[in-house]
Amino acid sequence: MWSKLLCALPFVLFLVPYPGESSEINVAAKPNEDIASELLNAWKEGCAATTASTIVIPKGTYPMTQVELVGPCKAPIELQILGTLKAPSDPKTFDSSKDWLTLKNVDSFTLSAGIFDGQGTATWEQEDCKNTGSCDKLPNNLSFNFVTNSLIKNIFSLDSKLFHVSVLGGKNITFDHVAIKAPGTSHNTVGIYISKVPDVTIQNSLIGTGDDCVAIMDGTENLVIKGLVCGPGRGITVGSLGNTPDEEPVKGVHVEDCKLIGTENGLRIKTLPNSQPGKVTDIHYNNIEMEDVKNPIIINQEHCPNKKNCSIEKPSQVKISKVSYNHILGASASKVAVTLKCSSAVPCEDVEVGDINLTFNGAPAESICSNIKPVLSGKQVPSLCS
Ligand SMILES: *[C@@H]1O[C@H](CO)[C@@H](O)[C@H](O)[C@H]1NC(C)=O
Ligand SMILES: *[C@@H]1O[C@H](CO)[C@@H](O)[C@H](O)[C@H]1NC(C)=O
Ligand SMILES: *[C@@H]1O[C@H](CO)[C@@H](O)[C@H](O)[C@H]1NC(C)=O
Repeated sequence: MWSKLLCALPFVLFLVPYPGESSEINVAAKPNEDIASELLNAWKEGCAATTASTIVIPKGTYPMTQVELVGPCKAPIELQILGTLKAPSDPKTFDSSKDWLTLKNVDSFTLSAGIFDGQGTATWEQEDCKNTGSCDKLPNNLSFNFVTNSLIKNIFSLDSKLFHVSVLGGKNITFDHVAIKAPGTSHNTVGIYISKVPDVTIQNSLIGTGDDCVAIMDGTENLVIKGLVCGPGRGITVGSLGNTPDEEPVKGVHVEDCKLIGTENGLRIKTLPNSQPGKVTDIHYNNIEMEDVKNPIIINQEHCPNKKNCSIEKPSQVKISKVSYNHILGASASKVAVTLKCSSAVPCEDVEVGDINLTFNGAPAESICSNIKPVLSGKQVPSLCS
């Protein structure tokens, strides 16, 4: 899959001619020289312009240290990356409180056609990181903080150890044709992490990581994930929720026409036991293909990876309701393909299951249910909660 993607890369990149109308600002980049300050200069100019502008990073490969592009800007602004941006391979040069590239307080922003090379392989191969698995001081993250009405398209992040897109706050952001790849063995490499933001769309994209392809956190509202191929990784995940008081609900998530390949989970909702109160509602999965997925459908309200921070003796207080599954087909990599483990304190409500067909080694898989009475229609393989 990835090799096909790489072959298609040149076409994808150069099939996006710029439609004109906006003035172009070329970043005065010199090959193999840190591009950060020139990019900041161009951003200042573009952001101050009263008509739309496009900042162009020319073809070539440019090292880049941490950059924060801050608005508000006076008019729509686009960053078009024709070349490749490379993070420093020595993580010690990073300020660990900042991300690699941050967009902040910007409206009507477009990011297009960029290759980011997080130099993760080099990082991952460093002894301590590899052995301890704690590489969190390497923030090869692309962050959108309080960004509104914006489009991120044709972004390729390749062979990056910790690459991770984070969306916090803001509204109405579309990711289209985004490819993120980190090794399945890497840690902390959530593909796209979404928190406290309504109206996000992720479409026609490929994400392979060592963690969740998409992590849907509190305050996510009206999220559409369509045409995503996810794997390896831990799947499309809502949560964990119930970590802190006053978490905002996760409300309105539509996942459709997606494929999960070789992931640990497929469609997952997880909350902590003994949790803070919370709410997950209006979550709909439709037309999803599973290939070699360990837990294709899973609701786990006893998610307790770090036993020190939670005890499963007390139930979760996060209420899950209005969830539907329809046309979920394919192969499970474990015997139990459907786990619906809801809270005894706040049982799952209004869960609807339509056609599902999940097999294990060619035979019907199995299911586990607790504190849930799903409404069934169509045909379920395996049969559920009977
Ligand atoms: C980058 O993402 C990782 C994974 O979620 C996160 O742990 C880390 O804190 C992020 N880095 C920064 C500087 O925010
Ligand atoms: C959402 O953002 C897109 C740009 O990606 C813009 O074209 C569209 O008008 C915005 N929608 C609303 C409702 O503002
Ligand atoms: C379920 O899928 C298996 C394998 O693809 C197929 O052989 C079987 O007929 C399907 N069952 C139903 C009820 O569709």
